[in-house]
Amino acid sequence: MRRDPHRLLRLRGPIQPYPLEPSDAGLAASVGLTEDRIIRFDMNTLGGGPLPATVEAWRSWDPAEAVEYGDLGYRRLRAAIGSTIGVPPHRVIPGAGADELIRLVTAAVVGPGDAVVIPAPTFPMFAVEAGLAGASVTTITREHPSRRQPPSAIRRPAESDGARLVWVCSPNNPTGDAYSLSELRELASGLEAVVAVDQVYLEFAVASGALDVDAIPLMDDLDNVVVLRSLAKAYGLAGARIGYLVVPEGLAQRFDALRLPLSVSLATQALALGALADHEAATVRHVAIMLEQRRLADALREQGCEVLDGLGNFVTFRPPDAAALAGALLKRGLVLREYPAGPMAGWLRATARASDENALLIAALRQMLG
Ligand SMILES: Cc1ncc(COP(=O)(O)O)c(C=O)c1O
Repeated sequence: MRRDPHRLLRLRGPIQPYPLEPSDAGLAASVGLTEDRIIRFDMNTLGGGPLPATVEAWRSWDPAEAVEYGDLGYRRLRAAIGSTIGVPPHRVIPGAGADELIRLVTAAVVGPGDAVVIPAPTFPMFAVEAGLAGASVTTITREHPSRRQPPSAIRRPAESDGARLVWVCSPNNPTGDAYSLSELRELASGLEAVVAVDQVYLEFAVASGALDVDAIPLMDDLDNVVVLRSLAKAYGLAGARIGYLVVPEGLAQRFDALRLPLSVSLATQALALGALADHEAATVRHVAIMLEQRRLADALREQGCEVLDGLGNFVTFRPPDAAALAGALLKRGLVLREYPAGPMAGWLRATARASDENALLIAALRQMLG
């Protein structure tokens, strides 16, 4: 009899992987459409295609650069990100997407047996990574998707479990709501744990006029807060894989030492430098997307759906029959995010994409729900 090769690994038992997303080709084949008919409203990526400055950066990138490793210190990239968000470059830790940095934060803070507190529903990677690190997760689940937990409801279990790490997603995926700076302060101030604030949708919240939601100023006086950002959503670089962590002064050297040396490729760095160089164009796009988000939300309310008031580039709503609606939309190539189980069961999430794509979705929704 063959022995189980898992015996050779640190984690031998079952693990909870990140749920794999179906491919465009797989989705198209499942409903007998050609791949070009598929529109992904389920990924929260940037509607309207690449930012013009990204296209320009790609055209002028010289593949000869890829022969060398480049700057292991990411100096240009960190300077560009730092000046965009008003933080000194050494406090910016780049990675291949926010996902890599969720792993970095988790591995830096917790190990087997440590407690991690995660309010739910939220982005699944926080729990996946905690599980891989061998930590135990305390999930604080909302009573209703529209009612986010008050800071005290997160802090209390963090204190009683002696948690070393607390995740907060703000704006939250999939509910879209955000915590104010004073709420985050109430949660983190004096807590003997790292509070990691995932803000990969922050630029959209700012574009929709939300004030006081940027968590970075907290680090001026709190040494236990880190903030996660990404260029995947707001800068249209999901497939290029680039995110960054902003850390307080006192943790900057340590996180710099813990990061992978060069997980952000030179090609991706070039795209990012392009995208960040035209701040005005990015902001204009964010404002346009959030107008589209409101249009989509209004259309869904008109059809009698319960809609969450979100600050991200997506709309979360409850139709009468989520599975039936998602199935009918898929037959037209319109892919929405479904939640077959858990606290979001019965809800759907749709990314606000470009105006013409949203018009297709709204027309289909009117037909199906009207
Ligand atoms: C809340 C949240 N955090 C992190 C990520 C991952 O971002 P990235 O593509 O930069 O790894 C996502 C992607 O959907 C997300 O929704």
